[in-house]
Amino acid sequence: MVRISDPIIINKTVIKNRLTMAPTVKFDYTGPDGKVTEKHIEHYRERAEHGCGLICVEATAVTPGGRFAKNHMGLWEDAQIEGHKAITEACHQNGAAVIIQINHTGITANPDCGPAIGPSAVPTRDSATLSKEMSIDEIHEMQDCFVSAAVRAKKAGYDGVQLHGCHGYLINQFIAKKTNHRTDVYGGSVENRARFAVEIIEKVREACGEDFIISVRTAGIEPDVATAIAIAEEYVKAGCDYLQVSTGIEWDDPSVAESGEKYNKFCSLGVRFHEHFRGRVPVSCVNGILDVSLARYLIENDLADTVDLGRAVLADPAFCEAALEDTPYVKCFDCPRCQYGPGMLHKCPAEMKRKSR
Ligand SMILES: Cc1cc2nc3c(=O)[nH]c(=O)nc-3n(C[C@H](O)[C@H](O)[C@H](O)COP(=O)(O)O)c2cc1C
Repeated sequence: MVRISDPIIINKTVIKNRLTMAPTVKFDYTGPDGKVTEKHIEHYRERAEHGCGLICVEATAVTPGGRFAKNHMGLWEDAQIEGHKAITEACHQNGAAVIIQINHTGITANPDCGPAIGPSAVPTRDSATLSKEMSIDEIHEMQDCFVSAAVRAKKAGYDGVQLHGCHGYLINQFIAKKTNHRTDVYGGSVENRARFAVEIIEKVREACGEDFIISVRTAGIEPDVATAIAIAEEYVKAGCDYLQVSTGIEWDDPSVAESGEKYNKFCSLGVRFHEHFRGRVPVSCVNGILDVSLARYLIENDLADTVDLGRAVLADPAFCEAALEDTPYVKCFDCPRCQYGPGMLHKCPAEMKRKSR
């Protein structure tokens, strides 16, 4: 039986256990220059010190126009590399491997940051205007921005990158038929809709080398699980080393429902992917893994290769240590407060409880 304390090798990097920190953006930590701040470094150091095997640093913009908001971290220029070096050193010194999620918001661009661009002209986030359909040249330029960000990530000491391929952002917009109406080689079939990301994977591999981890956080349902798996197969063929499975844009699959399992229907998508890719590509599941018993259950029952922890490790940086060593921890209250994003009005109640101890 595999235990959460067992190592796993992703590409050639040894991850010391099965507990991974999910990408979770900290909106209020940076300014308009998108540079890493001391707050970021301490945030990740603390999680690494307390036993996380792999940290996936939050969604980081590949162009200023692709930010969530003006206070969103970036890797769009060389001046941003130095700060990221401090994050990777803090993680490595504490025994954690570290990759970074790179992203562009595409159609959902924040108008304060840049124009809404995407595979097709579809309603933007204000629903009143349409996005601009990217030309083939613009697609290639955007792919190069992802590759340049990956090269900077490598220079900063990251063990790899993760393409943000879910949650309705640019890569996901190419995958979903609702947002991709193209009739050229970037639209239509599964192969064509996956091409935007596939070409990024191939170019990152060429630029960053064989040993660099390339992960994709992919939609586990788009619009159904079978199609989402077919898309992920394209990523794997192109050289993706590690899949994290979350949600996408369209959901039309009655086979995915709450089923009385210990884990929720979102997490079940990762379990389905793990069944499919078992022995070929490591798969992580995510969502609602808020207590240590569920993390252990998923690994010990071979339901996933790694468990991806979002709010659990935000609520208590010592969550992984607690899972590994049976020490006490403060459990996430499962409230939506940490998701309010920029201008967050409320404090995390778990953090307040922890600090009052
Ligand atoms: C504050 C916050 C920020 C997030 N930022 C990201 C992000 O940068 N990239 C991403 O793919 N998902 C992001 N997510 C989603 C989480 O990675 C995770 O999928 C989600 O919280 C469900 O997992 P959990 O129940 O373990 O929290 C974020 C979630 C939260 C709560």
